[in-house]
Amino acid sequence: MILEALQYAATRAATPKPFRPHIRYSVNLWARANRCAGAWAEHENNSRQFVLQSARKLKQRRTAVVLGSGLLRDVPYDALVAMFDTVVLVDLVHLASVQAKLRFNPKKNVRIANRDLSGFDDIVAGGQAEPLDFLRRVPYLDFVVSAHLLSQIGTGARHRLEREKIADAPNDLLPRLIQTHLDALAGLPCKVCLVTDTSFEVIGRDGSLHQHEDLLHGIDIPMPATAWEWPLAPFGEESRDYHIVHHVIARELT
Ligand SMILES: C[S@@+](CC[C@H](N)C(=O)[O-])C[C@H]1O[C@@H](n2cnc3c(N)ncnc32)[C@H](O)[C@@H]1O
Repeated sequence: MILEALQYAATRAATPKPFRPHIRYSVNLWARANRCAGAWAEHENNSRQFVLQSARKLKQRRTAVVLGSGLLRDVPYDALVAMFDTVVLVDLVHLASVQAKLRFNPKKNVRIANRDLSGFDDIVAGGQAEPLDFLRRVPYLDFVVSAHLLSQIGTGARHRLEREKIADAPNDLLPRLIQTHLDALAGLPCKVCLVTDTSFEVIGRDGSLHQHEDLLHGIDIPMPATAWEWPLAPFGEESRDYHIVHHVIARELT
């Protein structure tokens, strides 16, 4: 608890005001990732290896952008920093511990940006969302990774609708946000790598299925190159009586 409080306070001081409401989520994720490090290790390694394989195919490695860079656990941060001239990390929040790690980079080739990548505000206001439009202004863009962000766009939007009591949002807001992200990725003029959880199951000790949830709200991602299970909450994390397993896919989009 003390470490979480310190992480929260240090991150708050280093985060622009509009993004501070998202710090709590990141600190909670960080604490859970630390508690579940053993259970998550294979999943994190699978993600890192997929991104790395994809990056290695590139002839030019000038700028890489990681969308949903978060805690830098499931992206091969050190390898990307070594391989690319510039690495840009984009997320709602970068924890103070992550920002400290970036300061130890002798190449000084990493930039961070706080940004809402969902397009939520534009779509709720009745407009068109172009949440990845800013990538057009990134020079020498060779590689973009969407790193376990896609499902969180839907989940984050659902929480915002509840929290802010927005009643007049379009009925199809969540699938639209998810499709918007996929379309924007597919339209990028560089190699794009998508790694995301697509659904989860809550499973009892006797193997019985308590709950199944589609995190992509009906949007299908065809032809994943690979897929695996992520034991997000092993027995004892949320309850002694059930565990939660997320289904993860990875593929290149361009
Ligand atoms: C499951 S975590 C990804 C973990 C990260 N790839 C890593 O290696 O630790 C999801 C990340 O997406 C970010 N995120 C969620 N919604 C977002 C949004 N609308 N815009 C930008 N980032 C968002 C969260 O802040 C979080 O860091």
